[in-house]
Amino acid sequence: MNRRQFVRNAGLTTAAFATIPDQSIFASTASTKVKVVMIGVGLRGQNHLSLLLNRDDVDLVAICDVDDKMLTMSKAIIAKSGKPMPKIFKGDENAWKKMLELKDIKAVVISTPWELHKPMILGAIGAGIKYIGTEVILGINLQDHWDVVHAAEAGDAQVMMLENVCYRRDVLAALNMVRQGVFGEMIHFQGGYQHDLREVKFNDGINPYGHGVEFGEKGFSEAKWRTNHSVYRNGDLYPTHGIGPIAQCIDINRGNRFLKLNSFATKSRGLHNYIVEKGGTTHPNAKVNFRLGDIVTTTIDCANGETIILQHDTNLPRPYSLGFRFQGTKGLWMDVNKSIYVEGVSKPHAWDNAKDWLDKYDHPLWKKYGNDAQGAGHGGMDFFVINAFIESAKRNLPTPLDVYDAAAWSAITPLSEQSIELGNETVEFPDFTGGKWMSRKPIFAFNDEY
Ligand SMILES: NC(=O)c1ccc[n+]([C@@H]2O[C@H](COP(=O)([O-])OP(=O)(O)OC[C@H]3O[C@@H](n4cnc5c(N)ncnc54)[C@H](O)[C@@H]3O)[C@@H](O)[C@H]2O)c1
Repeated sequence: MNRRQFVRNAGLTTAAFATIPDQSIFASTASTKVKVVMIGVGLRGQNHLSLLLNRDDVDLVAICDVDDKMLTMSKAIIAKSGKPMPKIFKGDENAWKKMLELKDIKAVVISTPWELHKPMILGAIGAGIKYIGTEVILGINLQDHWDVVHAAEAGDAQVMMLENVCYRRDVLAALNMVRQGVFGEMIHFQGGYQHDLREVKFNDGINPYGHGVEFGEKGFSEAKWRTNHSVYRNGDLYPTHGIGPIAQCIDINRGNRFLKLNSFATKSRGLHNYIVEKGGTTHPNAKVNFRLGDIVTTTIDCANGETIILQHDTNLPRPYSLGFRFQGTKGLWMDVNKSIYVEGVSKPHAWDNAKDWLDKYDHPLWKKYGNDAQGAGHGGMDFFVINAFIESAKRNLPTPLDVYDAAAWSAITPLSEQSIELGNETVEFPDFTGGKWMSRKPIFAFNDEY
């Protein structure tokens, strides 16, 4: 029996969601309130802000941003919550460093542009903060990822990437099915980020979505910083929503690891065409050359023999979908056609409606917290990711998604850029765990705690 079968069988012979012994909450001293600060209270940060304000176990001490409009919006959210106004740090791009000098801060939530995550994480670790929740994408290049891993290890800090899709209801139910062996031994996965972002990458500098074709200094929110990554980079720029849930199904960094990948990019048309269509051929942005291929397809090979296909598809008209396919020796789930097939249970060669299966295998976390999650962002999954972060901090325990997950998932971006640059060569994944992947045990979502 190989290690993965052992882990799966162990999960089946005990309760399917037995608490992993070394994660026992009894081993730790839970503190009642967690002192939290926030760097970046833009549109994503404001989601986290609302969720943090909703909790009685969080003491929001301070927030920091460089944009007065975002701070005004955030202050209105805080005032409405009835909670005390935290200290506000603003004025220059290093104001967050002053904030991190505050005493007794237990946790920081970082929701800033991608290029600022690494320096802010390192700054927080340097300031002695032990729980760092960062929005998705740890850094830009491979060295950034190594720097964060080394700093987290040296500072004994928990760096959790706030990858909310890992907690999506259907995704957790499908993970439950994987762990209970419904799909047999897992063989192949697909996923990605398939989201028409044209109205996010461009705006009029005032409204976040659906107006204008400006970006950079003239843009607002993500158009201000995200779009430039499409000008200068060609690779899978946003892999974590797709890869996070898949990595949990096959114990990446905990008995398995990514070995290598290659990426192919199509030509780039969508962003230019959008500018011309909405702003006309004479708009200065019509001259911009976007490097990012409209669809970037990445294939990943794993140590235990599974393959994964990820697609980054953000420049063309299409409805949102992460395009999940979890496939094993006995059957598969595909989220786009909302269907499941399990050999011997489903009618031969016919899809079942996924809902019946997903309801049956609803994850204990959703059964317990489904009501609390109502109204939280992205169909409720945002509640769970903040809940997991705060509950780990309260209990002084490792976060269920850790720095090795964050580094391995985010590293897909620079590796896919490298592969494309090298004419689609297959490139090796670094092992951020330094060999520990062989003995680390899975800890994500094994019970209904967090
Ligand atoms: N997980 C999800 O579902 C999800 C959804 C949206 C965004 N995100 C991620 O969240 C992050 C933020 O995205 P967003 O949509 O909120 O972008 P945004 O532009 O709306 O917010 C970023 C904020 O960071 C602030 N900022 C920039 N430099 C700063 C500095 N030096 N100090 C303090 N604040 C600074 C900006 O002023 C802005 O308010 C990104 O990583 C993005 O990919 C994740």
